Amino acid sequence: MSTAIYPGSFDPVTLGHLDIIKRSAAIFDHVVIGVLNNTAKKPLFSLEERVNMLKDAVSELDNVSVESFEGLLVDFVKQKNTNVIIRGLRALTDFDLEMQMAQSNRMVASDVDTVFLSTSLQYSYLSSSIVKEYARYGVDLKEFVPECVISKLIDKMK
Ligand code: PNS
Repeated sequence: MSTAIYPGSFDPVTLGHLDIIKRSAAIFDHVVIGVLNNTAKKPLFSLEERVNMLKDAVSELDNVSVESFEGLLVDFVKQKNTNVIIRGLRALTDFDLEMQMAQSNRMVASDVDTVFLSTSLQYSYLSSSIVKEYARYGVDLKEFVPECVISKLIDKMK
């Protein structure tokens, strides 16, 4: 059975993330979404909130599960008995950082590979940061985040 890990901060999950998740789920038998618990960062949503929003967003995808992880991504990947990481590439601006992460991961775990999926065109410039900025200014969010995230974002901004 082929398993792939789709890691990220997901603060919050966007339709761009969901697009990558759906396409990965069509390629791999099982996709585990790994939500990073990064104690050095101060996310808008708690780890539990981010995990729950993702669980809600992927509830109709039978071969997708959501878990949190701490520490090195490659350790989480190995813990899940796989060696495949999925990342979405939006534009050229993502390339440098993504290559750096993929190469760093291979430096400590040479059997771990990163598979890049090109983000669908309509989400090329969408990010969790832009979504939070839009939410702050009351922009309609239905084109950017799953339905279940909209009310949570509005509540946070109150
Ligand atoms: O959604 P993001 O914030 O772009 O995801 C970044 C993430 C979680 C994939 C990356 O920060 C990560 O893998 N962090 C875990 C720590 C680690 O393994 N670092 C070494 C590789 S850069």
